[in-house]
Amino acid sequence: MSARGLFISFEGIDGSGKSTQAQLLADHLKATGHDVILTREPGGSPGAEEIRALVLQGDPDRWSAHTEILLFTAARRDHLERTIGPALAAGKIVICDRFADSTRMYQGLSRGDLRQVVDELHNLMIGVEPDLSVLIDMDPTQGLSRALARQTAEERFEDFGEELQHAMRRGFLALAEEFDNRFITIDGSGSIEAVAADVAQAVTERLQV
Ligand code: ADP
Ligand code: TYD
Repeated sequence: MSARGLFISFEGIDGSGKSTQAQLLADHLKATGHDVILTREPGGSPGAEEIRALVLQGDPDRWSAHTEILLFTAARRDHLERTIGPALAAGKIVICDRFADSTRMYQGLSRGDLRQVVDELHNLMIGVEPDLSVLIDMDPTQGLSRALARQTAEERFEDFGEELQHAMRRGFLALAEEFDNRFITIDGSGSIEAVAADVAQAVTERLQV
């Protein structure tokens, strides 16, 4: 991936508005003449979408913590090989709804401290970070009620409940400090339009696009 486009990820707790804002940023950048692809994790390629169904549906105890890290990383490797890598090589802007920071948080924090395992597997199998990561920061109570209102079958993680969402919020804020070279943090509590304007301004300033 040397001839490079631009890789932007959205991160944050469930229901924080990532999908909404990723779509709006893609629309904004397309309207200003950029070649953009919008994708998501887990998923974003046919094989990774199949793994998505395995990890997001069913009993919360369906997989051990270690197996789950392998599944998310396998999905990411396929996504990178088939979708993200080729798009970046073609000079496109890739906007991805969640990436490796989600594994650092969800699998790294939710069932004991497995952050080092996540990072080691990431270094071995992925080795790529976004150029820019947009953290949509959100009160977990508000985020969870938004996420549950969607009523999808993909609620394995949402079933973990509000306490986990609080830990995730703290974790994401700490991660944004740890990787302050690539993170921008946006307050997600305003209207969709207000948050979108903040995201567009921050991305434009940071990347001069
Ligand atoms: P995420 O991808 O982070 O889980 P979504 O973008 O899917 O979040 O948003 C979750 C729900 O909340 C959706 O129904 C969406 O329409 C709604 N939503 C998103 N942003 C806002 C906002 N700023 N204010 C009110 N509702 C919002
Ligand atoms: P997503 O579809 O983005 O859910 P939401 O729109 O509710 O934020 O992601 C689904 C779930 O997958 C979400 O609860 C977080 C979880 N997840 C992980 O646990 N690890 C990962 O590496 C990724 C990418 C997602």
